[in-house]
Amino acid sequence: MTLVSMNDMLEQALAGHYAVGQFNLNNLEFTQAILQGAQAEQAPVILGVSEAYIPYMGGLPCIAGMVKALIAHYGITVPVALHLDHGTSYDVCIQAIHAGFTSVMIDASHHPLAHNIEVTRQVTQAAHVLGVSVESEIGRITGREDDLVVDEAEGMYAVPEDCVRLVRETGIDCLAPALGSVHGPYRGQPKLGFERMAEIRAMTGLPLVLHGGSGLPDGEIRQAIACGTAKINVNTDNQIACTTAIRTFLNEHPTAYDPRNYLIPAREAITASVRAKIQLFGCAGKAGGN
Ligand code: 13P
Repeated sequence: MTLVSMNDMLEQALAGHYAVGQFNLNNLEFTQAILQGAQAEQAPVILGVSEAYIPYMGGLPCIAGMVKALIAHYGITVPVALHLDHGTSYDVCIQAIHAGFTSVMIDASHHPLAHNIEVTRQVTQAAHVLGVSVESEIGRITGREDDLVVDEAEGMYAVPEDCVRLVRETGIDCLAPALGSVHGPYRGQPKLGFERMAEIRAMTGLPLVLHGGSGLPDGEIRQAIACGTAKINVNTDNQIACTTAIRTFLNEHPTAYDPRNYLIPAREAITASVRAKIQLFGCAGKAGGN
């Protein structure tokens, strides 16, 4: 299956009242685990690559090449979107598209609204020429996303009227409004703004994206989906599953040295984590639509 944009999968998710998982790539093993988890669950999947991971994984062409080669090698048949997560500039979005990404997020949420709208509009105009889907953020989602740290004092809930302006003036395909979710581990009880989420969904008509999908109680995930969330981003929970498996193996086998000995159990742990999320999001069996 060739890579696709997020548009069809998110429209189908909205109609079917489930959410598609975005799982972030950290390395080869994450990519293998996520693709195999989605295939086993017969679920569409979004592979997210955050800007900080581009140099770590050898650059955009290397990442796109690895994803395409693994899809062919494993005979993956479920729809897969390759998505730039939190692209902070027009340039990085265009570079990702050029490398073969089928979806981009432009995150200019740290700028004043007018600037956010302008950059998002430019990215969307270029992306749509090539059939690439665009996500944009408004308000500020706090926590740690790889090397990007936004502390709680900077966090802001998205304002519905601002969301409508952003959507109308840019033509984006889905929207990530900050509504109290946090990247990385939660400190204390998460407080998601569900009423506002439903209001923004009704006013914009777009599929919504929930960032910081790790560590949220199952009930909150289901409520977010009921309020119009069609895409949920997860990274930290998969990283914890991976690292716990490696730590356990090395504690039990202190003289081991072949990386496969600990990376194979780590990969299996990531796959199990991804499969559990896909099931929780109601996305299992949705590869062919509803
Ligand atoms: P978590 O790492 O908290 O799951 O968040 C991932 C995310 O939102 C990526 O954009």
